[in-house]
Amino acid sequence: MKPPVYLDHSATTPVRADVLEAMLPYLRAEAFGNPSSAHRFGRTARAGLEQAKRELAGAVGCEPNQVIFTSGGTEADNLGIVGAALAARDRGDPMVAAVSAIEHKAILAAAHAVVHFGGREIILPVDADGQLVLDALEQALAERPAVVSVMWVNNEVGVVQPVAEIAVRCRAAGACFHCDAVQAFGKVPVSVKDLPCTLLTISGHKIGAPKGIGALIVRDRKAVEAIIHGGGQQYGIRPGTENVAGAVALGRAAQLAAEEQPAEAARLERLRDELAAGLRAVVSDLMITAEGGRRAPHILNVIVPGADSEALLMHLDLAGVAVSSGSACSTGAIEPSHVLTAMGVPRDLALGALRFSLGHGSTAADVERAIEVFGSVVGKVRALAGVLGRA
Ligand SMILES: Cc1ncc(COP(=O)(O)O)c(C=O)c1O
Repeated sequence: MKPPVYLDHSATTPVRADVLEAMLPYLRAEAFGNPSSAHRFGRTARAGLEQAKRELAGAVGCEPNQVIFTSGGTEADNLGIVGAALAARDRGDPMVAAVSAIEHKAILAAAHAVVHFGGREIILPVDADGQLVLDALEQALAERPAVVSVMWVNNEVGVVQPVAEIAVRCRAAGACFHCDAVQAFGKVPVSVKDLPCTLLTISGHKIGAPKGIGALIVRDRKAVEAIIHGGGQQYGIRPGTENVAGAVALGRAAQLAAEEQPAEAARLERLRDELAAGLRAVVSDLMITAEGGRRAPHILNVIVPGADSEALLMHLDLAGVAVSSGSACSTGAIEPSHVLTAMGVPRDLALGALRFSLGHGSTAADVERAIEVFGSVVGKVRALAGVLGRA
């Protein structure tokens, strides 16, 4: 039996060896201290935390004192949206969150939470290629939103947004722009030096750091208010004893991701294109989502007409290839992806969507293997659908 192939790096990635090595001392007796303690144990931990901030700041092009560590992308997104809405309320401004329709659930649900706090959400539409409709952004900006959030790279289909253009428009309107860069970092050039955003989200486990660590880059502390309450750590914006080992891991992983990004993007794009061509060669009516649009190099979303993505996923898994489906199971029923729905993909096609996502460990052999098994898996699933359809 060949070892299974992992093509689900947008879900999570293994911890890189260098990253693990960098973080281990902060879990062991040599550097386990609380970074707020004044004694030597504390100072050692504090030094690691400060170094991690410098590394992450260097990798994303901000100042070390603009890094706020969080428990991951979800928390950073919530701090960005809810925190900005609360800050607006304190200033006497409208609590309005304007977010794109294809955001990760962490953003969509956070915008919805703003409604529960007495504010309002505006959902910004995208076109058939998944690109934000800029006229809709302009209309939303006229309502003086507390925050506008548009992701850099979409996690399901890989579409890249014109974030520089969006950031410039937000700045001109005096609006706080938050960008979820979880899927972008390490895959496209991400630097806040070139992007006039106020807030930016990063997650560790998508780039070879462990799960449960992320960061919100906060370029203007007045733009957000804390959403959890406690001590004065991290300027009071995100209280709680810092996850020092996680932060050290994120700093190291971010450094590696930024250094490797240009070469890695080119390598992944070649692999992705080989994968797309190979899958299409074995399933001729395969559709590639946003094929003509701007896409990040590591995500390939395909639609297999007449097949059910959950069945495809399971049969691919049995054949030794791990991918992801875009659909979500809510209340027992399979729902099409909100991203594909927002792009205007009909429900029956959206239910046949699959996401292949590549990462640091992906090889040409992985891609070949996926292509090798794909034709027979699709044949099996379609045959089964035909039999069940006739029953
Ligand atoms: C675009 C995007 N934002 C946010 C998140 C949430 O990050 P985390 O898993 O670190 O909470 C993810 C994870 O899938 C993501 O892809």
